[in-house]
Amino acid sequence: MCAMMVTSLDGAPAGPDGRSGSISSPADRAVLIEARRLSDVVLIGARTLRAERYNPMRAKPGDAAERELLGLAPAPVVAVVSASLDLPRSEPFFSESTVTPIVVAVDSVDTGRLRVAREHGEVVTLPRPSVLSTDLIHSSESRGLARIVCERRPRLLAQLSCYGLIDEADMTGGMPALFLDP
Ligand SMILES: NC(=O)c1ccc[n+]([C@@H]2O[C@H](COP(=O)([O-])OP(=O)(O)OC[C@H]3O[C@@H](n4cnc5c(N)ncnc54)[C@H](OP(=O)(O)O)[C@@H]3O)[C@@H](O)[C@H]2O)c1
Repeated sequence: MCAMMVTSLDGAPAGPDGRSGSISSPADRAVLIEARRLSDVVLIGARTLRAERYNPMRAKPGDAAERELLGLAPAPVVAVVSASLDLPRSEPFFSESTVTPIVVAVDSVDTGRLRVAREHGEVVTLPRPSVLSTDLIHSSESRGLARIVCERRPRLLAQLSCYGLIDEADMTGGMPALFLDP
């Protein structure tokens, strides 16, 4: 698994607008795009999706050809971990991504919410909330989805590191968040 994180010069994971894009330079973005390009899964938390308003994840023609040669799907699938299932499902991110995102829920979630979520796309439920990320990684690997890019904040990445699950860490940054306009 590849742990991916951008940070400002003063250690913040997001700028004054609550988004990591505002502390990212072109070089930071280039690393992020390269990490995602040949991955199977991009793993994020629901708060990140709500804050960042991700654009649809689409395969570029050149990338799709290279991915086919490697036996990969045309584009990575985004897996969004959520307990509340309160997700922006009407946004193009869900309807216009090359591969429809997967929602990862805990199996103790309210059945009504689960039913509604399933009407909108694939929902995977896993049993143990406290280590959901690690369960998800093992579950993805058992489905043959071994190239996982995990875009989380430091505490969660540290947790994954404790479980010995990080093969590569791409930490970039250097923009001073305190000096950026909101
Ligand atoms: N600098 C970077 O590289 C970077 C990377 C990622 C994120 N960020 C920033 O970090 C902020 C969000 O990060 P965050 O750590 O606060 O939140 P997050 O990890 O993006 O999302 C937290 C949410 O994920 C769900 N979740 C997480 N663990 C779960 C578990 N074990 N079981 C069930 N659901 C679980 C819950 O969703 P529900 O609320 O739906 O229940 C929880 O509220 C944003 O500002 C984002 O821009 C920065």
